[in-house]
Amino acid sequence: MDIPRRNVELAFDPATVPRDWVNDDAYETTFMAALSLLFPEGEQFFVRAVKALQDRVTDPALAKAVTGFIGQEAMHGREHRMFNDMLVAHGFTEAPAIDAKLERFLHRVRKTLSPHQQLAVTCALEHFTAILAEQLLGDPHQRDRIHASVKPLWMWHAMEESEHKAVAFDVYREANGTYSTRASMMLLTTVVFFAVQFAAHVKLMQTRGILDKPWRWARGFTRLYLYPALLPRLLPSYLAYFKPSFHPNERDTTALLAEWREKLFGPQGWIELAA
Ligand SMILES: [Fe+2]
Ligand SMILES: [Fe+2]
Repeated sequence: MDIPRRNVELAFDPATVPRDWVNDDAYETTFMAALSLLFPEGEQFFVRAVKALQDRVTDPALAKAVTGFIGQEAMHGREHRMFNDMLVAHGFTEAPAIDAKLERFLHRVRKTLSPHQQLAVTCALEHFTAILAEQLLGDPHQRDRIHASVKPLWMWHAMEESEHKAVAFDVYREANGTYSTRASMMLLTTVVFFAVQFAAHVKLMQTRGILDKPWRWARGFTRLYLYPALLPRLLPSYLAYFKPSFHPNERDTTALLAEWREKLFGPQGWIELAA
């Protein structure tokens, strides 16, 4: 799998992007915005974790994939920071504080966990992004909820997460990471990730003025958790990670990726690459 670093430079104009850019719904928008706020620091953590054990990689193809992975994550971080600046312009002035708080938290995580544990956390979160990405790429009902002005960012990010979904995992294997650490770190990461994402989401909902108005978030909550239950539907793919024989490539996304490479970067593509 070729993992190219694409120099993507997107621009987000707070005046033309609607404040509720997912499905015209404040709950769903703040849910996705909370994810976006976690990406830049989170992805930097992934890159550091992979770099820390990069010297264990002996396979030249994997070494090349690692370079691609680092380049892609750096680009995602850069573009999501721009996107997060737009969120500030939309009135979410707490965004930089959430980013700074996450940076301090991840600093403590790096001081506490071993390099193998940090890479296992990275594999866990890369599995989350891979299954979310596959859903977004493959389900028109879900992606069509995202406003056209910001859709290229989310689809490009989803596509590259799917492209590089096995890199951290393969490095972990080459570094002789154990199954027990991989599985236990997934459990820990699941709890911590949802707590952190929930806290950020609640803060954004408060700023948006919907936290104490359940009727404003009933629709979005229903869509995510009850019908069509976008998150519970991912449970089987999530649980597959706990098989000792699990590998990210056992879900074949080759055709989906080919389709999206064309859609995003083909001759009539949505995104023009910068030099
Ligand atoms: Fe990413
Ligand atoms: Fe990633």
